[in-house]
Parts: sequence; structure tokens; C-alpha cells
Amino acid sequence: MKPNPSTLRKSTFFSYLLTLSFIVLFGFLYFEDFSCLFRQQQQQIQSNFQQQQIPNPQKEKEYIRLPFAVGDDQNGCDVFEGRWVYDEETRPQYAESSCPYIQPQLTCERYGRPDREYQHWRWQPRRCDLPSFNATFMLEKLRGKRMLYVGDSLNRGQYVSMVCLLHSIIPENAKSFKTFGSLTVFTAKDYNLTIEFYWAPFLLESNSDNAIVHRVTDRIVRAGSINKHGQHWEGADILVFNTYLWWMTGTRMKILRGPFKGNGTKDIRALETEDAYRLALRSMLRWVEKHMDPQKTRVFFTTMSPSHERSAEWGGEPDGNCYNQTTPIDDPTYWGFGSSKSIMRVIREVFRKSNVPITALNITQLSEYRKDAHTSIYKKQWNPPKPEQLANPKSYSDCVHWCLPGLQDTWNELLYAKLFYPWKLKP
Ligand SMILES: *[C@@H]1O[C@H](CO)[C@@H](O)[C@H](O)[C@H]1NC(C)=O
Ligand SMILES: *[C@@H]1O[C@H](CO)[C@@H](O)[C@H](O)[C@H]1NC(C)=O
Ligand SMILES: *[C@@H]1O[C@H](CO)[C@@H](O)[C@H](O)[C@H]1NC(C)=O
Ligand SMILES: *[C@@H]1O[C@H](CO)[C@@H](O)[C@H](O)[C@H]1NC(C)=O
Ligand SMILES: *[C@@H]1O[C@H](CO)[C@@H](O)[C@H](O)[C@H]1NC(C)=O
Repeated sequence: MKPNPSTLRKSTFFSYLLTLSFIVLFGFLYFEDFSCLFRQQQQQIQSNFQQQQIPNPQKEKEYIRLPFAVGDDQNGCDVFEGRWVYDEETRPQYAESSCPYIQPQLTCERYGRPDREYQHWRWQPRRCDLPSFNATFMLEKLRGKRMLYVGDSLNRGQYVSMVCLLHSIIPENAKSFKTFGSLTVFTAKDYNLTIEFYWAPFLLESNSDNAIVHRVTDRIVRAGSINKHGQHWEGADILVFNTYLWWMTGTRMKILRGPFKGNGTKDIRALETEDAYRLALRSMLRWVEKHMDPQKTRVFFTTMSPSHERSAEWGGEPDGNCYNQTTPIDDPTYWGFGSSKSIMRVIREVFRKSNVPITALNITQLSEYRKDAHTSIYKKQWNPPKPEQLANPKSYSDCVHWCLPGLQDTWNELLYAKLFYPWKLKP
């Protein structure tokens, strides 16, 4: 997809404008979402990778098998391209009430969501079928391993979804779920397996990292600081990163050189969002190159999760948002202003040049369709809504996060497909 530069500039401008107005309007909501988190406390880069992997020219005709792979994808099928199919029989894969780990910001049924259709959509890739998610199989394959999700509250949602997909076959006394500061750990004792989430919304060190005291306005990210968090990721066998929304401040991003602590003038530069984001992705890849063995481990990166703040974008009411949306968007080309195409370009460029194999979970387009899948008003509210809010529910509707069960289970199905049935790396 190559948008022409003028539309792109226009859409970037609009997306800034929108982000800005969004922050003003919903900043409080955001703060609540992100802070409650504390309260609880493909692109394989083939050419380079192959060169590393194949010292022996006689083996050149063989396919390279990635760690964890049990098969390959079906003739290069792009699993991220497809459509949503309504499926009463096989979806959802678990009941909301059967998964005690879902944070109250995502338990939409419990907080009164009247419709259930959002749980029954299955993703159907255009040219192939997804392998069906088999929890027993996955637990067996991950025996003795550490799987770690790193990122923001959206990644945390995906993490919890994975735990929900896996936990039901494990007896009560053989599993645990605990939070230690920035780290949440699900343990499957009999499998000697942990599935973890680490809070690092920018991946790099920032002033939004602290579990209790964190600021959302005036965000500052420290350049070259990946090890600050990275030290807690060492030893992971499977890593799933995300980072996006926190960068979208609507203005340039403040990047600090040197430490946060200490007196004297701080060396802070304001970078364009794209440049700041590129810096973080490159740091992430350098960290991966240094700490992750491509023969034994896999690294994934989940692309941006879309928001649905303005129903006018999909031809709905002029002043609505995701509130009261119960069906997906039909238009296959739909792409909302909130998902920055220039950030997507940065991801593609940085990964293309990377020396390490990293698999993009390109969930943006398929999630764009799901205006019906957000938590909206059906979540724990940290402050009771005021009468004027109750009179106008869309004013406090969360159109960023997703109900569970729901969309994010699909992200994990795609992760499952890419983990066990990756692209064949053909020399
Ligand atoms: C799931 O995986 C297990 C372990 O590999 C296997 O025994 C079982 O038959 C699989 N179930 C299905 C429905 O394919
Ligand atoms: C459990 O897995 C860890 C690696 O994550 C390994 O070091 C340890 O030896 C394993 N323990 C058992 C009992 O298998
Ligand atoms: C910071 O300021 C304090 C007191 O003002 C001083 O004692 C200390 O040496 C300074 N530290 C640095 C790194 O300049
Ligand atoms: C929700 O949407 C339906 C149409 O889809 C409409 O009839 C109803 O009035 C809407 N409810 C609210 C509270 O906006
Ligand atoms: C993700 O998919 C979209 C199309 O749906 C494409 O434009 C974009 O380049 C892809 N991103 C990456 C990182 O592969």
C-alpha cells in the first residue's frame, strides 16, 4: 500500500488534530485507563537472517525451520488479509466469567454490555484458514519456557487474552497469577511455564513508567535507555512487543539525553513523533540482537491498535463514536485517522533493515473494522459518571481498549499461527 504523499500529509495533519482534540476531551479517561493498570498491578527479515543461518552452501536448498515451528504457512498466505465471519458455534473460545484474570476495564458483560455479537466474529484469512487454537498443544510446546509481552495497556489486553485462552485446562492449584510492580506473571506449574506482561509503554525509559506516580501530560522519553527495562526481559523465549498510543501526543516528542535524575539543565530535544518512534524501534532491535538467540527464540511486534473515536469516519452519525456500535465495518478499505500511516511506514522500514528476525503481527487493518469491539462504557469506572455524562454516554465511552473475550483473542490466534506455522524461510 503506497498512499500518495499529499493525502498522507493531509491524513497525518488530521490525525494530529484529532489526537489533540481527543486528548483534550478524553485525556481524563485515558489517565484513568492507564493509571488503573498500575493500581492493580512479517515480516521475517529473510535475507539477513538466512545469511546468518546458513553457513553451509550445500544446505542451500533446504528450508530453515524457525524455533517452535511445526509446519509452515500455506504457500505464503497473508493471514492478516481477510474478513470477519459471524460464527455462533466456535466463537467465543471462552466465557468472560470463566476467566478470572481479565481486568475490570475489559469485562464488558459484567459491566452491563447488552449485546453479545462482538464475541462471535471469527477472522477468516482470504487465501487460507487459520490453524485452530489448541491450548494443550501450545502448553506442551512451551514447556519450560518464558513468554513475555512488553508494552502498554493494549498489549496487556492481548496478554490477558492469551492467559484466558490457555488457562482453562490447567487445574486451579497448578496455576497462579501475580503482579510485582511493572511485571505480571502467570505460572503454569506443571509445565514450568510462565506467561508474563511487563509495563513499558514506550519500551524506552520514560516518565510514564512508574507504577504509581506517572504523568500523562508532558511525556518525556530517554534516549538509549532500553536496558533500563530490558534487563527484566532477559531469558525470555518468546517476546511480544507493542508501542504506539503513548507516542501520539499530538505534538513533538520530548527526548531526554542523559539521566532523569540529577541536577543541572536537562538536555531535552523535541523530535517529530516518527523520528522519536524510529529511535525506540531501533533500540528495541538492537536489544533483541544482543539478547535473543534466533536459533532458540522468537520475537513478535504487534502493530498499532486502532481507536474508533468518530463515527463520521465510517459514515455513521456526525457526532458519535464507538458507543452503541454492534457491527463491524464492511468497507474493506476502511482506515481510521487514529492509525498513523507514517508510523506504520516507520515500522516497515525499520524492520526491513533489521538484522534480526522479527515477526510483525499486523493487526491494524483487521482491527480497523471492529468498531463494535471496544469496551465503550461497559467497564469499571474509577469515578462514577456524572449525571451529564450518563445523559450522554458517548462522552465517557472508551474507544481504545477492547472487551474480552473479543478481538484480542484473534490477535493471539494470529500469533499462534505465526509461531507454529511461520513463513518458510527459503534460501
Ligand atoms: C490438541 O493438541 C493435543 C496435543 O498435541 C492433541 O493430542 C489433540 O488431539 C489436539 N486437539 C485437537 C482438537 O486437535
Ligand atoms: C524450568 O525452566 C527453566 C527455564 O525457564 C529451567 O531453567 C529449569 O531448569 C526448569 N525446571 C524444571 C524443573 O524443569
Ligand atoms: C546536585 O545538587 C546538590 C545540592 O544542590 C549537590 O550537593 C550535588 O553535588 C549536585 N549533584 C550534581 C550531580 O551536580
Ligand atoms: C443505538 O443504535 C440504535 C440503532 O442501531 C438506535 O436505535 C438507538 O437509539 C441507539 N441508542 C442510543 C442510546 O444511542
Ligand atoms: C500492515 O498491513 C498494511 C495493510 O493492511 C500495510 O499497509 C502495512 O505496510 C503493513 N505493515 C507492516 C509493518 O507490515
